[in-house]
Amino acid sequence: MKKMIFLLLILFARSSVQAQTAGENFSLNGNRNLMDLTSGDISEIRNFGNYLDDSVNNSGNASPYALIAGGSKGIGFAIAEALAKRKYNLILVARHMDTLIAAKNKLESVYHVQVDVLSFDLSKEETAGEIAKWCTGKNIPLKMLCNVAGLGGAEDYLSLSLDSLRYMVRLNIESAMALSLTLLPLLEKNAPSYILNVASMAGLAPIPWKNIYSATKAALVSFSYALRYQLRDKKVSVSCLAPGPVYTHLSIEIETKKQLGRFGDLMAVKPKRVGEVAVRKTLKGRPLIVPGTIARIMSGVIRFFPKRWVTYIYGKAGDRNRKKR
Ligand SMILES: NC(=O)c1ccc[n+]([C@@H]2O[C@H](COP(=O)([O-])OP(=O)(O)OC[C@H]3O[C@@H](n4cnc5c(N)ncnc54)[C@H](OP(=O)(O)O)[C@@H]3O)[C@@H](O)[C@H]2O)c1
Repeated sequence: MKKMIFLLLILFARSSVQAQTAGENFSLNGNRNLMDLTSGDISEIRNFGNYLDDSVNNSGNASPYALIAGGSKGIGFAIAEALAKRKYNLILVARHMDTLIAAKNKLESVYHVQVDVLSFDLSKEETAGEIAKWCTGKNIPLKMLCNVAGLGGAEDYLSLSLDSLRYMVRLNIESAMALSLTLLPLLEKNAPSYILNVASMAGLAPIPWKNIYSATKAALVSFSYALRYQLRDKKVSVSCLAPGPVYTHLSIEIETKKQLGRFGDLMAVKPKRVGEVAVRKTLKGRPLIVPGTIARIMSGVIRFFPKRWVTYIYGKAGDRNRKKR
């Protein structure tokens, strides 16, 4: 039994790190294709500086709204789809307008909901205040805030520049904390309402060679539990999503399959399913959400053992991986 658990931990350590390393680099490098905008798109949408305003008009509009920070692709887009299916109107935030507009067009045509897109860098200090100002000015009936944007990468503490380290901390944790605070008045006004923070299984135990990534995700897990308690009387439910590997980019799938074969495939969960499970369980008020049966078992194992042991196992798995390369 002990050997089995040890083996599962090693396999998990390898799979989650490979997936995150492969996948989250995309956030830094921005692997994007330019969208072709039709003249119809352009005339339909009025450009107001750094966001496209589709004239949210809430007079007499009772449809709930969800704001997804990092909602233009990957897990954020999957969450947006799951909400659109439930007739939520959406506000998507990301840096690049081309992917935002592609997401908006798809969601509006398939689900017939209203989608507004805001182009902001969530790592910037002023962003949370500006987004809240926009939402408050339009009196958005905000029912859900999803803090999804985050990044890891091949480089982490000891090999990370100070600028990259600060960017990672600001994006992974500060932006979620700041947006939750600035949007709380609107969420309270529209209660019962929800906050969904996207952490990672990497946040459930320290990973030596993904130190800052796992530390920021651990902070998000802790923040979510504590905020959930703080808001318990205000009817604002706080959930935290902690997925294992998710195939948001082809490179994650290739790398996971190459390293782990069938086990990697069994462990990984498709983005669409992650989005669906995340939204369903958030609406049910669950505190911690780990999509996928195997990932859920692994998350239980990781949390059961002392942090010192799991850190050691993660560390050894990482050393072995590095030697192979
Ligand atoms: N994929 C996995 O295996 C995995 C596993 C566990 C946890 N997670 C977590 O899940 C979240 C999403 O991961 P993903 O794989 O879906 O990522 P992704 O496909 O790269 O999508 C990231 C989203 O966030 C936006 N974004 C990134 N940096 C931003 C910034 N500075 N300001 C505003 N928006 C920004 C991106 O749009 P722009 O680039 O246009 O800004 C995009 O909409 C992350 O927090 C990640 O840590 C992922």
